[in-house]
Amino acid sequence: MTSPEPTSGGAAERLAAACFLLATAAAIGLAVVYWRGGQTQLEGIMLAVALGGIGMGIVVVAKAFLPDEEATEAREPLASPEAEVAKLTADLESGEAPVARRRVLVASLGAALTALGASLLFPIRSLGPRPGRGLKTTPYEGGRKRVVRADGTPVRPADLPEDGVITVWPEGHTDAADAPTLLIHVRPNQGFRPRPGREGWTIGNIVAYSKICTHVGCPVGLYQAAEGLLLCPCHQSTFNVLEGARPIFGPAARSLPQLPLALDAAGYIVATGDFSDPVGPGFWDRER
Ligand code: FES
Repeated sequence: MTSPEPTSGGAAERLAAACFLLATAAAIGLAVVYWRGGQTQLEGIMLAVALGGIGMGIVVVAKAFLPDEEATEAREPLASPEAEVAKLTADLESGEAPVARRRVLVASLGAALTALGASLLFPIRSLGPRPGRGLKTTPYEGGRKRVVRADGTPVRPADLPEDGVITVWPEGHTDAADAPTLLIHVRPNQGFRPRPGREGWTIGNIVAYSKICTHVGCPVGLYQAAEGLLLCPCHQSTFNVLEGARPIFGPAARSLPQLPLALDAAGYIVATGDFSDPVGPGFWDRER
């Protein structure tokens, strides 16, 4: 693409201003198209016109109003004579042609840059809603909730035989991806040691941990009852159920979060609160 050859300073000013205004219109069009749902090809064309308009306008201004002569400066003497300094100063101040409508050019360029900058802020909306506390809480938050099987039936301690494991969710949230929980009935006298402060989180020998691996989020589902170990099938992380589900092998670095349990008046198992920690893969502000 070649830049147009303005015939005079006035024509160059009008052409440059027209380029900037075209860029302004394209940038506004870009914002409107994005706001109305977006259309990739149209957005690309608008962005190209906006950037091209600004570039073309700057080229026109440069060619029309800036000195266009090649100058070779002798290296000696280093200090320029006063007459040369005065001539250079005069050249820079006057340019090739006087800019009669400087305000028009500055205003139109400013409008183009402002509109383009504003339109480029719009895609921030594409980042989606703020997660808020959504990554730190599960549907267990906010009070006592029964734990239920996938079909919604609640669980009594007698439903879980020794060495048994079942997957449960908070009642009404069996589709919650962050809430699957393993209820595990460990053997009596197997050496279960609750973490400090969690002494009352179990029902007899039934303990509950998040089923989501703290490595990269696979479901932890293999229980070796004799050793009290939970295995993740994805990368073989192994968690010691008897010691707060701390990882003893594999890439997972954090314990499975524990769920506090109790019984309701009807004898069903309930969670008395949310997990001990955010569930799933590593979290920048998790401590364990
Ligand atoms: S996801 Fe469990 S070990 Fe990798």
